Amino acid sequence: MSLPSWNTAPEPQNSRLPEWRVPLSELHWSETEVQRVTGVLRSGWWTCGPEMDALEREFENRLGVRHAVAVSNGTAALHLAFLALNLSAGDEVITPSLNFVAAANTILHAGAIPRFADVHSVEVPLVSTETLEKAITSKTRGICVMHYGGSPCHMDSIVDLARRRGLWIVEDAAHAPGATWDGISCGRWGDIGCFSFFGNKNLTCAEGGLVVTENDDHAKKLRLLRSHGMDSLTWDRYRGHSFSYDVTVPGFNFRMDDLRAALLRVQLQSLDAWNRLREERVQWYRCLLGKDPRWTLPFETHGGTSAYHLMPLVLGAEISRSDVMLYLRSRGIQTSIHYPPIHQFTYYRGRTDHAGLKHTEDLGRRILTLPLFPQMTYEQVRLVCNCFRDAVENGTPNANVHNDE
Ligand SMILES: Cc1ncc(COP(=O)(O)O)c(C=O)c1O
Repeated sequence: MSLPSWNTAPEPQNSRLPEWRVPLSELHWSETEVQRVTGVLRSGWWTCGPEMDALEREFENRLGVRHAVAVSNGTAALHLAFLALNLSAGDEVITPSLNFVAAANTILHAGAIPRFADVHSVEVPLVSTETLEKAITSKTRGICVMHYGGSPCHMDSIVDLARRRGLWIVEDAAHAPGATWDGISCGRWGDIGCFSFFGNKNLTCAEGGLVVTENDDHAKKLRLLRSHGMDSLTWDRYRGHSFSYDVTVPGFNFRMDDLRAALLRVQLQSLDAWNRLREERVQWYRCLLGKDPRWTLPFETHGGTSAYHLMPLVLGAEISRSDVMLYLRSRGIQTSIHYPPIHQFTYYRGRTDHAGLKHTEDLGRRILTLPLFPQMTYEQVRLVCNCFRDAVENGTPNANVHNDE
C-alpha cells in the first residue's frame, strides 16, 4: 500500500507488524518529524528542556489557557490532576463506566473512590447532566467527564451543574484534541483538562500526556508533582538557573522528554487537517452504512466539533459481536471494543457503587469500533463496510481467509 503524498516518510519496513489489510489505526508522520527528532538527538539534550517548554507554550496558545504541563502519558496527566485537587479518603469522583480504565484507577491512586455514571443513550454514549446529577452523593467532590471518541460532552450544562453543587471538573480529553463545545476547546472547560498522546491517538509521540489549567495553584502543584516534588528541574540547573533544589511534596517522575516534545510539536501543526480527514472518513462510513435497523451509528446528530477519534457502531441485540469481529479479522480488518464497562472488571466489581448503568451495560455488549485514521482510503472504508455487511448477513467464515487471498 503506498502512503498518501502528505505522509512523506518512507513506508514502514517492519516485519514485526501484523499484516492487517485495514488496521484499527495507523501512525501518520512526515519527514519533518524525522528531521526534528534527529535534531534533538544531535543537540546533546534529550530530557525535558527547550522542546518541552515550547510545546507547553504552543498548547497554551492553541487552547487559550494559562498553563500547560507536559507529562509522560495520559494516565500520569489524570493522576496528577486528581492529586492537585486534594482528594481525601472517602471522597467520591463521578466518572463514566464506559471509559478507559485510567480515570478510575487514578482516582483510586489519589485516595478517593470512583462512582460510575451512566451515559446518556446508545445514540450519544456520553455522560450527561442528568446521568451525572443522578450519581451525586454527599461524598462527591468532583466529576471526571470523558469526550468519548472525540465527541464533546455538553460542557455548558455540566459546568452549570458542577457550580450549583460545588464540584470541580476534570476533563479526560484523551480522545479530543482539537474538539470544541460551544466554540471552546475540550480540556479548557473543566478545572483541569488531560490529554494523552499514546500511539493510537489523534496527536501522538508514542507515549505522552499533557495537563491544562487556568488555576495558578493547580499548575504549581502539577509541576512539582511531575518531577519528584523538586522545586527545580535538571534543565534549570543545566542553564545555571539554580544549583540545588528543595523537595516540598513527595512527587513522581512523570516528565516528558524533548524527543517526544519535538515530535508532538510537528504533529500539532497538522492536527486540524488530520481531524478534518478523520471527519471525511466518518462521513464516508455514514453514507456507505446508511440507516439500517440492524445497527446504530452514534453521534449522528450530536453538536459541537468532534475530533473524530473513533468510529463506533452499535450492533442490534440479535447480532453476535464476537462473530462479526471474527469475520472481519478473517478478512484482515481489525476492530476493537471501546469499552468494556469498568464496573464489570474483576477488580471493580463490588468495590464501587453506581446509580444504574443501563445504557453502559447495553453498549458494553453491543458496541464495536471500526478502523479510522486520516490516511485511510475510500477503498479501505468501502472494504470495511462491505465486509461488515457480509458479517452481519452471513456470519463467521474460517479464520485467516485473507492470508490465502
Ligand atoms: C479515554 C482515555 N483516557 C486516558 C487514557 C490514558 O492515556 P495513556 O495511555 O497515555 O496513559 C487513554 C489512553 O488510551 C484513554 O483512551
